[in-house]
Parts: sequence; C-alpha cells; structure tokens
Amino acid sequence: MAGLPGKVLIFLLPSVLLIWKAGAGELEIDELRIGGVLQVSGPPRRAGEANGSSSWLPKGKKEDWKEEILRLARMPEAVESVKGLRRRIHEHPELAYEEVETGKLIKQELDSLGIEYRFPLARTGILATIGTGGPPVVALRADMDALPIQEAVEWKHKSKVPGTMHACGHDAHVAMLIGAAKILKAREDHLKGTVKLLFQPAEEAGIGARKMIEEGALEDVEAIFAAHVSHQHPTSVIGSNVGPLLAGCGFFKAEIRGRQSSPEYPHNSIDPIVAAAAAVISLQNIVSRESNPLDSQVVSVAAVNGGNSLDMVPEIAILGGTFRAFSNATFHKLRERIEEVIMMQSNVYRCTASVNFFEKERFYPPMVNDETMYEHVKNVAIGLLGSKNYRLVPQVMGAEDFSFYSEIIPAAFYYIGVRNESLGSIHTVHSPHFMIDEDVLPVGAAFHAAIAERYLSGLG
Ligand SMILES: *[C@@H]1O[C@H](CO)[C@@H](O)[C@H](O)[C@H]1NC(C)=O
Ligand SMILES: *[C@@H]1O[C@H](CO)[C@@H](O)[C@H](O)[C@H]1NC(C)=O
Ligand SMILES: *[C@@H]1O[C@H](CO)[C@@H](O)[C@H](O)[C@H]1NC(C)=O
Repeated sequence: MAGLPGKVLIFLLPSVLLIWKAGAGELEIDELRIGGVLQVSGPPRRAGEANGSSSWLPKGKKEDWKEEILRLARMPEAVESVKGLRRRIHEHPELAYEEVETGKLIKQELDSLGIEYRFPLARTGILATIGTGGPPVVALRADMDALPIQEAVEWKHKSKVPGTMHACGHDAHVAMLIGAAKILKAREDHLKGTVKLLFQPAEEAGIGARKMIEEGALEDVEAIFAAHVSHQHPTSVIGSNVGPLLAGCGFFKAEIRGRQSSPEYPHNSIDPIVAAAAAVISLQNIVSRESNPLDSQVVSVAAVNGGNSLDMVPEIAILGGTFRAFSNATFHKLRERIEEVIMMQSNVYRCTASVNFFEKERFYPPMVNDETMYEHVKNVAIGLLGSKNYRLVPQVMGAEDFSFYSEIIPAAFYYIGVRNESLGSIHTVHSPHFMIDEDVLPVGAAFHAAIAERYLSGLG
C-alpha cells in the first residue's frame, strides 16, 4: 500500500492545476449573442430614389415584384436550365480548390447573361456583379466544392467521379445562384444598388470564405446572405433563426512524446500512453466542470493511437478530436484550455506534447445571424412564399465557413428544404444517399433574387 499516497498525489496534481487555473483565469460567462453582435442600420430605407428611367417602375399593385420574380423563376426554360446546370455539376463534382470545370460552367452562364465578373479570387472563386455598380452593395454566396464520398444514389445523373460526390448540395447552391443571376439581370432596372454574387471554393475544407474575404470579395458589401439545402424541411420551406445558428468548430491533434522502453522496465520508459489517458480524462472536465451549462459546448476526443506492440512502451501517443461552441469567446477559450490541459497533463507524466489546431484549414468561428438581416430573410420568405413556408429552426452544433463573413458584416444564413418522402430525399447532408428534390431549384433562385432586390429597395 506504500505506493498509494504517491498515486493519489499524481492523480490530484492535475486536478489542483485545473482548479487553480479555473480560479485565476477568467472563465467568464460570455454573452450568448442572441440579439446579434454587430450594430447595423438594417436595409437602407430610401424613398423615391427612382430616377428619370421610370418606365420600369412597378405599375398597379405593390405586390407585382412577387409575381414577376416567381414568374421568371418558373418559366419552363428557366426551370430546365437551372435543373440542367445542377445535374451537370452533380455529375462532375470537384473537391476544395479544384472547382475548375464548375467554374467554367458558371462563367459560361455569366457570359451568356452579359454579367461581369472577377476571376479568379481565392484560386477558383468567381465574383459577379449585377446592378448599378454603386452603393448600397449586397452579396449572395454559393459554395462550389464537393465531398470525398462515393455516391450511393442510383440515378441518371449520378456522380461520374469515383469517390467524389456533391453530398452537401453545393451543386444546388450554385445552380440556384445562377438562376437568381438570370432573374436579377432581367430585373436589373429595379435594382437600387449592386448585387455581388460570390461563387466560393472550399467550404468543406480549406476555409474558402476567408480567402475570398482576403482577396476583396466583401469590398463595399454591407450585408451578405446564403442558403443551404436541408433534408429536415419540406421542399422549398425556408428556415432560419436569429443569433448563433451554427457552432464555432475546431479540431485538435496532440502528439505526446515520451521514451520508448520494454514495459518490464517501466523506470526506463517515459510512458506517453499514461499521459494520453490522463489527458483524455481531464479534457472531459472542461465542459463538465468549467463551463456555464447554459452556454452549449462540446469537447470530444475522437481518436487515440499509440504503440503497436504488446511488449513495448511506445515513444509517441496521438490523440485528437473536435470542439464546438456557440459564442466566439467560449470557442477561443476551449481552444486555449484544450492546449493547456494536454500540455500540462503530459508534463505531469514527464512527457512533452505539441497540439495542432489546423487553424489554416479547419477552424470556423460561430455562425451568427444578425438580427436585422435575419428579419429580412423572414419577411421576404413570408412575403414571397407565405407564412406556412417559413419556420424557425433550432441551433445545431454543425459548422459553416459562412461564419467568416458573418464575423465581418451583418449576415444571415438560412435553410431551404429539399425533403420529399415520395422522392426519397430524406437523407442528411454528407450521407452517400443524400439527394434533393430538384423542385427546390427555381424557388431557391427566386428567393435569392428577392432577398437581394428587396434589400436594395430597403424593403422586407
Ligand atoms: C438612372 O439610373 C440608371 C441606373 O442607375 C443610370 O444609369 C441613369 O443614368 C440614371 N438616369 C438619370 C436620369 O439619373
Ligand atoms: C473572436 O475571438 C478572437 C480571439 O479572441 C478574436 O480575435 C476575434 O476578433 C473575435 N471575433 C469576433 C467576431 O468577436
Ligand atoms: C414530391 O415530389 C413529387 C414529384 O416531383 C411531387 O409530385 C410532390 O408534390 C412532392 N411532394 C412534396 C411534399 O413536395
């Protein structure tokens, strides 16, 4: 029993460190940004800005914009075209920063519409411009990349690229935004400002949004909107909410280094397995013991690897996982604490450690919907599609690199339903069985166009 006090001490020491740290550091309960963080004035309210060329001014009913936008979206040739484009992209999915053929299709469409664009930015991205060219400027974003997943849906337009699939609906996002470009171009005289269309690479990996921003995609832009297809809502139903909608999302991978030795001589080894085990247990305490239970967050260790012999203490153990939070402060605090806990626990067991957070590739802040922009989405949804086609949706711990835009300017992200039981479009994104009800495409195009046009008019 002589060993017991020693063991207890070793076991307690990390706990003491944690408690000390928790007391000294600021574990403040940060603001859950329910009301939106950015001060914004909202869609510009401009009255009587129409100039001499008033022949286009809506005649008769004020509601003409709805009928006209929906009419343009539902013209048989427009529907065929948006479906055809989506199918071509679906057949030829391209991974992050490889969206070359997808980009060619987009540029062809923009050329045929006489829409100007900048290319490339963020390597394969495209930035198109419609409207007066002057302020105000509103942006709509579509992501272009596919996933390294083998499509399991048997249909005529199945992916022709083995192991690659548009399993997150980005093919539909691109097609809907091109559909919107057509409508906006046809109604360019109605635009009281400029619409920028962002065709963004690398949403799934590589943080394409940040590169788009670095290369000037948000210059002069005062608000931005994006749609994401969702199997949770019936076809064409819009869903959104105010404040943090998707979590900040990070990943970590730690390398814990000790000294290899035969396990029958433990005193000759420095055991990284024990250090890794202690670190895994201590990481559980960040959320359970340090966090405000009303501020949702996750730390999950998803991989532990070390050694490959039953008769050798290895030199290195690897552990890694992911962490999520809805507030920026909490998200960054988690990152800091994960690193501290792994480093300190490794030190307790005489090991050294390094932790990689992949901050250049996979590190997304929380996606926060601005209150005014969220209201705009809701108002346009109800105005264009009726209140039965709009719903409030709960937060989820998923992530989206649209959050990089929402950090900088007022933004709103919303879902558009693709669920149709009779077609079988009931599978979640990132499933090899994922599919969409293509009837969403013309509605999504109309909705994008209405969001932008109504924003520029200062109207919901
Ligand atoms: C009216 O607005 C259009 C588009 O902004 C512009 O090209 C045109 O010069 C304007 N006309 C007058 C009379 O201001
Ligand atoms: C989020 O937190 C990080 C680190 O504290 C900071 O650099 C960044 O500006 C914050 N973002 C927002 C939108 O507050
Ligand atoms: C599902 O798709 C079929 C075929 O396109 C259509 O007839 C039906 O109305 C759709 N159902 C819903 C709920 O959208």
